[in-house]
Amino acid sequence: MKITIRPLLEDDLPAADVVFRLAFGTLAGLDVPVRFGGDTDFVRTRWAADPDAAFVADSGGKPVGSIFAARWGSVGVLGPLTVHPNVWDRAVGTRLLGPAMKLFDEWGSTHVGLHSVVHSAKHIALFRKFGFWPRCLIEVMSKPVESTGPGPKKRLFSELSERAKTNAIKACRRITGSIYEGLNLEREIRATDDQELGDTALLYDVNELCGFAVCHWGPGTEAGSGRCYVKFGVVRKGPNAGKRFKRLLEMCEVLAGRRGFFQLVAGVHAARTRACRAMIERGFHTESVGVAMHRPHNPGYNRRDAYIIDDWR
Ligand SMILES: CC(C)(COP(=O)(O)OP(=O)(O)OC[C@H]1O[C@@H](n2cnc3c(N)ncnc32)[C@H](O)[C@@H]1OP(=O)(O)O)[C@@H](O)C(=O)NCCC(=O)NCCS
Repeated sequence: MKITIRPLLEDDLPAADVVFRLAFGTLAGLDVPVRFGGDTDFVRTRWAADPDAAFVADSGGKPVGSIFAARWGSVGVLGPLTVHPNVWDRAVGTRLLGPAMKLFDEWGSTHVGLHSVVHSAKHIALFRKFGFWPRCLIEVMSKPVESTGPGPKKRLFSELSERAKTNAIKACRRITGSIYEGLNLEREIRATDDQELGDTALLYDVNELCGFAVCHWGPGTEAGSGRCYVKFGVVRKGPNAGKRFKRLLEMCEVLAGRRGFFQLVAGVHAARTRACRAMIERGFHTESVGVAMHRPHNPGYNRRDAYIIDDWR
């Protein structure tokens, strides 16, 4: 079988999406693997966010695997990586990792992370070949949407003028950069806005931005029907960070309720013990568990004082 690794093109999206679902559906042991993920979308939305950071393994003109990379400023996030189950264990995954790792080098990423499968020796071995080490668990959590009422003071990114959007992104970058140097979520904020995947809710202390949450909602996004998914959330560090984080969680729940979603989904790395505890206290339950693999083998922003929501899926 001759396989070529090349950039993922728009025409590849339907086939790459099928491979993505088949791969994860087979891994999960679903009766109908291709139904994995329901009406969520990871392939098209990630490609649209950065078409230069997606590659396919091409066999006779048909994608049999794909990989995506995301640039969060100085932090790189890898995945999803999927290979058609018919060609597992034939080095397709290994070959797809090559160009993605080259991208992180070109970007100068100081930390690269991925969400891997906890129980698989194969996954650990595959990613370790590229310098990744397993560290803490990642808990993908959810709770029913119960909060009503006005909620904390917030603004929505989609409602800002172009100039205000630029300023908001700078303010968001200051918050993330103070927790991990160079961490910048502009890509996710812009992608969510441009593709109308949901919205970024901006949290204020009086008139100063003190946190934000990039939320996807509904079908065709990473959330899926009926769900609001916090892809990334953070509050400014400092003595009141714990209180701010509680307000951030309330803000997300009120927003989800107003939009008619019944479930709020958010992931957290277990090493961020304070954020994790606050989510449990608010009523979040763990839906699934993965393992964070880091390159290099250091905490990055997975520290107990980092009030950050994300799950690197
Ligand atoms: C994970 C996945 C992408 C791997 O793709 P693949 O093409 O089968 O992987 P490769 O053949 O390139 O590499 C597998 C490596 O694991 C090694 N391996 C397999 N089983 C192993 C085990 N039990 N213990 C140790 N190493 C193992 C193989 O030897 C190979 O390494 P080598 O080339 O150095 O010998 C594919 O199985 C898949 O799509 N899975 C479902 C989706 C998923 O889990 N994605 C990853 C999470 S983002």
